[in-house]
Amino acid sequence: MILVTGGCGFIGSNFIHYWLTHENQPLVNIDKLTYAGNPLNLQKFNSDPRYHFIRGDICDRSLLLEIFHTYKPNAIIHFAAESHVDRSIYGPQDFIQTNILGTFQLLESFREYLNTVPRSNWSQYRMIHISTDEVFGSLTPEEPPFTEINRYAPNSPYAASKASSDHLVRAYHHTYQLPLITTNCSNNYGPYQFPEKFIPLVICNALEGQPIPIYGDGLQIRDWLYVEDHVRGLIAVLKGGTIGETYNIGGRSEKTNRSVAELICERLDHKCPLPNGQSYKSLITFVADRPGHDRRYAIDCQKIEKELGWKPRENFLSGIEKTIDWYLNHKVWIEQVKNQSYRNWIKQNYEKRLASCPE
Ligand code: NAD
Ligand code: DAU
Repeated sequence: MILVTGGCGFIGSNFIHYWLTHENQPLVNIDKLTYAGNPLNLQKFNSDPRYHFIRGDICDRSLLLEIFHTYKPNAIIHFAAESHVDRSIYGPQDFIQTNILGTFQLLESFREYLNTVPRSNWSQYRMIHISTDEVFGSLTPEEPPFTEINRYAPNSPYAASKASSDHLVRAYHHTYQLPLITTNCSNNYGPYQFPEKFIPLVICNALEGQPIPIYGDGLQIRDWLYVEDHVRGLIAVLKGGTIGETYNIGGRSEKTNRSVAELICERLDHKCPLPNGQSYKSLITFVADRPGHDRRYAIDCQKIEKELGWKPRENFLSGIEKTIDWYLNHKVWIEQVKNQSYRNWIKQNYEKRLASCPE
């Protein structure tokens, strides 16, 4: 039995799909179902006896202990978090609560549970803490990609909360010898990503004929990884990673935001041309920048490649093709997630930005 936290979100639901298709081990998923958690993502497993779902908060230690003692998981895959940088700028409180205090409660519950197991059996247990490249801060164009030994320099409240949780994980391994591993991954994209994030927002806005908002000059760089490649990396770490280590996971695929938006528009021009004959690029709108916007992220993933034989299977062109096709084939899913709370968020984040276009 494995325990997944935050399995109804973007990466968590891709992980569960992959796990229940390729591995023959049952899992229990605890998710609070915030705005980002969508049980529809996992609907096809509702009557699968290998899948157990518990709606709950990782800050609730007594619930976590009950789950540990009932399901007796030997592995924990910890995804649950508040994950959107822009939301962390408007309201950091939930990020501190879930990302720091929630991770703390999970570590404490795991410690209490493991203390009921003979120390000699601890090697059969492990927890993977899913973190981000954002904890390393921002790179200049000349700097080499982040390695596992880069110093931490988080710049947003989101990144600071993830950095804090990484430090707790490190300390719990060092002090209590808990079997913990941290992964730091670059930007993911693919099916089931909530359309507050850049790539699904560009696709969904384009399909609705809405402006495609690009922050600042659009020359910020992200290192994009197709979500299934991330999932395969996590399973490689779960099976072969060294306890107490950290592993960087990335796509070796640095792109400017502007070039990502233009590529998506070109692919949409080809797949479903606009009736007026214009390119979707005509919807691209430069808007006010994100405060404290990190200029460039890039991951050096040689360690996981060399030690665990992992490599991304998709390049950006093949991954974006699959992603666009998924959104074109899931219009009902898009309609369902674009509820009133989503529309409120779009208004809050973009109304003033659109009114102050810099170019
Ligand atoms: P997401 O926002 O899509 O999903 C988060 C999930 O966690 C949701 O299902 C939500 O309901 C759940 N959740 C939130 N608070 C909770 C709580 N208190 N208790 C229980 N469940 C709770 O996030 P994602 O993009 O899938 O990211 C998953 C993890 O991967 C996060 O830890 C994130 O920091 C990390 N990460 C994400 C990316 C990326 O590009 N998306 C890259 C690197 C690392
Ligand atoms: O690097 C890993 C991180 O990637 C994860 O830890 C985060 O959970 C995840 O949200 C993501 O953070 P980013 O801030 O990089 O992703 P986002 O999709 O929000 O933005 C990607 C880039 O696009 C970023 O430079 C900001 C820009 N952007 C974003 C939005 C939403 C725009 O230009 N316009 C937009 O409307």
